[in-house]
Amino acid sequence: MKKFSRRLFLGTGTATLVLAGCQLTQTQQGVTETKEINIYSSRHYNTDDELYDGFTRKTGVKVNLIEGKDDELIERIQSEGANSPADILITVDAGRLWRAEQAGLFAPVTSEILTEKIPANLRHPDNLWFGFSKRARVIMYNKDRVNPSQLSTYENLGDRPWKGKLVIRSSSNIYNQSLVAGLIEVLGEQATEQWCSQIVANFARPPQGNDSAQIEAVAAGLADIGVANTYYLPRYGKDQDPAKKAIFDKVGVFFPNQNGRGTHVNISGGGLMKNAPNKDHAIAFLEYLASPSAQTFFAQGNNEYPVVAGTPIDPVVASFGQFKEDTTNVSAYGTNNALAVQIMDRAGWR
Ligand SMILES: [Fe+2]
Repeated sequence: MKKFSRRLFLGTGTATLVLAGCQLTQTQQGVTETKEINIYSSRHYNTDDELYDGFTRKTGVKVNLIEGKDDELIERIQSEGANSPADILITVDAGRLWRAEQAGLFAPVTSEILTEKIPANLRHPDNLWFGFSKRARVIMYNKDRVNPSQLSTYENLGDRPWKGKLVIRSSSNIYNQSLVAGLIEVLGEQATEQWCSQIVANFARPPQGNDSAQIEAVAAGLADIGVANTYYLPRYGKDQDPAKKAIFDKVGVFFPNQNGRGTHVNISGGGLMKNAPNKDHAIAFLEYLASPSAQTFFAQGNNEYPVVAGTPIDPVVASFGQFKEDTTNVSAYGTNNALAVQIMDRAGWR
């Protein structure tokens, strides 16, 4: 048999699909099926090979990985339709999982393992998709310019003392859409729109760049405070380049709303595809992702937080401290997404 590599990349260049060590089994009906699953994923971290190899060692099921950008993967599975070889989609942000859900891609999974291990607020109410790691969207501050005692809540970011001192990326970004969608859920539409207008008035510059760009702007003193997902900061701390390390040292992490509902969290996650050709193996893979070793690799690959209680946390991530999480069901980020986008647009958040 011809040997292929595991990965198939979408979008750029040519690709190869894996069938290495293609293992066949006899099902009860006597049908010969290949022991493999096809995972469409927007992840591409160093620990992922360990993650997939661990599953193959445990089950004998080969993992074929199709990597691509988040929205491209959703479009690809949609266009493949009933003939899609996709068994599982893994992507980031509950708002984006909701997009895939709206496209009709997921099938519900009934699994005691998943419902027991994954907190209810981090999975779809009908178990169409599940969170496998958590990210917190926090305030990052310049340690020379800001005393953390000046910080308290997301709401506080709209206060006048921060005029011209706040950076955050654009409203087209799904993380911000989900943040605002979460605020709609807890504060209501009117208060959220008012908050958006207030923080727009506090912008140090028109939104530009990704979360890393906000961290760099804060470190450089272009702004006092910024909003970013926690996992962007450890990348600087772990870099060998002293200039990158200096950025890490300059920037503090503040978890907002600790005296109230808690800090906004989002997920990386995935679910079973409606037309999955290898359904049983795919469900076994989702359950595997909730196991202790897989949780460790899944979270550490991107310096995120595991979702299953008791999983060890990366030391740099742990150095930010423990925090209280907002337990709003992340599926609200999807259902409130359209309204969030409208509100941000009305508030002039570009
Ligand atoms: Fe990100």
